[in-house]
Amino acid sequence: MPLHGGITTANWLVFNPANYYTEGNQLEGLPMINWYADLPPIKPKYRAITQLIKRLIEDDKLLPGQRLPAERELAQLLKVDRSTVTRAFLELTANGLLIKKTGSGTYVSTLPQIASQADKVNWNFFLENTESRGDQAYQQRLLQARALDHGALIDGAANELPMGLIPELGALQLDWHGFLLAQKQEQDAGYQPLIHTIGQIHTNKKQFHLANQTLIIAGGAQQSLLLVLRSLLQVGDAVAFARPSYFNSSAIFQATGIHTYPVPLTSDGLDLAALEEAILKHRIKLLIMNPTFQNPTGSILTLEQRQRILKLCQSYQIPIVEDDVFGWLVAKQDEVPTFKSLAPENVIYLSSLSKLLGSSTRIGWIVAPQAIGQRLLQVQKKLDIVPSMLAQVMANLALNNASFEPEISKLTAQLSHRRDQVTAIFRECRPDWRFTTPKGGFYLWVTQDDPDIFNQLLAQKILVKPGPIYGTDKRSFRFNFAGIDAKKQQQLRERLKN
Ligand SMILES: Cc1ncc(COP(=O)(O)O)c(C=O)c1O
Repeated sequence: MPLHGGITTANWLVFNPANYYTEGNQLEGLPMINWYADLPPIKPKYRAITQLIKRLIEDDKLLPGQRLPAERELAQLLKVDRSTVTRAFLELTANGLLIKKTGSGTYVSTLPQIASQADKVNWNFFLENTESRGDQAYQQRLLQARALDHGALIDGAANELPMGLIPELGALQLDWHGFLLAQKQEQDAGYQPLIHTIGQIHTNKKQFHLANQTLIIAGGAQQSLLLVLRSLLQVGDAVAFARPSYFNSSAIFQATGIHTYPVPLTSDGLDLAALEEAILKHRIKLLIMNPTFQNPTGSILTLEQRQRILKLCQSYQIPIVEDDVFGWLVAKQDEVPTFKSLAPENVIYLSSLSKLLGSSTRIGWIVAPQAIGQRLLQVQKKLDIVPSMLAQVMANLALNNASFEPEISKLTAQLSHRRDQVTAIFRECRPDWRFTTPKGGFYLWVTQDDPDIFNQLLAQKILVKPGPIYGTDKRSFRFNFAGIDAKKQQQLRERLKN
């Protein structure tokens, strides 16, 4: 291994102390690297940097184990943005030429493989790009906790109903020939009988009328929202939604290049002054609301609150996307008119079967004013994000099943019972926890004073979804009580008392 005579820190080449010299020693005789002058005249710039570093390694001007200047310092020397150096380092790291040591810096690999790395695609670059959201670490912890669980975990972090509460609809009769015949009833907006069934449900529940509206079947509410964003907005446009909100951690805004602005939820509904400020400052194009059993707070906006929000949005010509995936679970006496019924021409309504029949059902729908509906249909076809006919036919059978209505009533009663049991346990064991008992749904939103509550509860094998996932701080968390049956309730009480 050739060993150069010396190196100076001013030269930005500090040897790995373990291999050669003590860091910071001023050693004589190493060739000077003039980073800026030696940069090959090619574009993009990060590629010029990777070529330069490869050449320096080949020419033994950078030695195995040697530390490179910090990214920020190298960026100054090369007169480029730091992100350009970051990208070059990522590529060289993926190729095995450099090694990144957390908290220490970037080093030339002790076994550089110049010959084998050729023009290999740097997949790391793609992966690094998708890992940047702040709540990712929590999502990872949740996955990990479930993967390591052997049945001891009390999972209050679930997004949906437990299997045991999903309505029992028995056998749904479908023979293959019948399914093939059903395909003849496929229209642009989906399977016609399913469109009809869903329309009937909304009309019977007096939620809204379908006159001058288009009802489109999609692969769930999330996909519906994606379709709305892709069809109506441009990259760089802005939308607003509540804080805390499920939408805070949704990947679809990043995927579509849409900026998001959270507007605080208050005990009096949405903070309208903050909404107005966001509208004026950020040119908000859409307001996305989940007014019934809001995820995560479980709250229902009152009629007056809905009317005030609508009035403000109408004065700025801002449409509302109403996400009503929990609408199925509202008891008759708690129903509040939907935004859609209050302003059919200004609202795009979304719902799905995920919170009722299981999230893998992947059937949702959009109700939009006709002209918008046509646009959504065009984009849906163009992107080929049309839900499977088999799922649509099955969903239609499920919704028309004689047990459907009674099963929903049974479900809401069971949910109310579990809510009462779990809130009683919380009050008894943790009187300092603050929450408003929701009228239904399956989420409890708890605020307390311990900023490490997620880890504290995890240590007791209780899994919750922490506030940062919803855009708030670590003192709040969401607890799904739907899966907490009698046995789990007893365990919950015991663990919370400790
Ligand atoms: C408010 C809200 N909207 C949409 C969704 C996603 O629904 P789907 O599974 O139909 O895409 C969820 C799921 O948690 C939700 O809470």
